[in-house]
Amino acid sequence: MSTQSPMYSVLVSGASGQVGQSLRHVLDTEETPLFSKNSWGFLDRSSLDLSQSDNLSSVIEGLLDKHAPKAFVHAAAFTAVDAAETQKEAAFTINETATRILAAACAKRNILFVYLSTDFVFAGKSTDQKPFLPSDPIHPIGVYAQSKAAGEKAVQLHGGPHYIVRTSWVFSPFGNNFVKTMLRLAKERLQFLSEPNQQTSARVKPTISVVSDQFGCPTSALDLARALLALITVQSLPYGILHFSNAGPVHWAQLAGAVFEQSNLPITVKPISSEDFAAAAPRPAYSVLENTLDPKARHWKEALAEVLSILKTA
Ligand SMILES: NC(=O)c1ccc[n+]([C@@H]2O[C@H](COP(=O)([O-])OP(=O)(O)OC[C@H]3O[C@@H](n4cnc5c(N)ncnc54)[C@H](OP(=O)(O)O)[C@@H]3O)[C@@H](O)[C@H]2O)c1
Repeated sequence: MSTQSPMYSVLVSGASGQVGQSLRHVLDTEETPLFSKNSWGFLDRSSLDLSQSDNLSSVIEGLLDKHAPKAFVHAAAFTAVDAAETQKEAAFTINETATRILAAACAKRNILFVYLSTDFVFAGKSTDQKPFLPSDPIHPIGVYAQSKAAGEKAVQLHGGPHYIVRTSWVFSPFGNNFVKTMLRLAKERLQFLSEPNQQTSARVKPTISVVSDQFGCPTSALDLARALLALITVQSLPYGILHFSNAGPVHWAQLAGAVFEQSNLPITVKPISSEDFAAAAPRPAYSVLENTLDPKARHWKEALAEVLSILKTA
């Protein structure tokens, strides 16, 4: 965002992330109430670097003084769950310290602060079947989850009017996500088998191993963006913690299967355990959220079809 930019009613951090790009996409392509798309300002790392703790306060004060926004959507975060295990300081600087500074600066000006948080603040067991409510006690395992939980606490302690919107398993046509990783892996495997020296190509259906003992609800960032737009413009829900995901609890292998099926890719999904996958960070076995932001949110399979069709035409 250049210094010549107009004043914005809503500022969004994390402009180049999934949620930031999805908000922009929805504003660009759909009718939205109250705030016109031109009144939204998107901040990427070049205009708001959250790791610059020395002068972060003054940069934020400057942005808020300049634009006097009515709302701030804080979608930027250290989201590399596995890398966070070895980069604890960076994860907490961005997810806790920067969030606290932002929330406090917004509180001082009575600006609505919307903090995106995660289902990973919970750590349900694989035998659990009851979706988590916003009021349920949290139990973050792993550095990423703990840093996001610390961010939530900072917003509650230092913020003014705020929504903490927890979401889960986000996918979109933008940035990096599980759906795009599955498509890339599938194409690589199919490409490999189609090479001339692969004698078995006609008979072999490539296999991709995917974890099947973690349950959650996939969420289209486009649907999340629509829900955030409605939330911010109408503000009819009481301030505090909200949950948003698409409908339909599932495990990762089932999500992968649907990606391949809807994309007509001849891939076999091999279900494996979290132990076999051996990711660096621990993840909850069950983190299904009770959707309190939009209890009528559509099923993730429908939302997946929309994202795949956008990716197809991209
Ligand atoms: N993805 C999920 O499955 C998921 C699930 C639950 C909750 N959430 C939460 O939802 C929110 C949005 O997630 P997302 O999927 O949109 O994340 P994302 O695609 O990884 O985007 C994160 C954004 O944060 C920015 N960022 C990272 N470090 C920064 C820094 N030091 N200064 C400024 N910007 C920085 C990144 O900028 P660059 O592009 O320059 O790196 C990127 O634009 C996050 O709060 C996340 O914790 C995500």
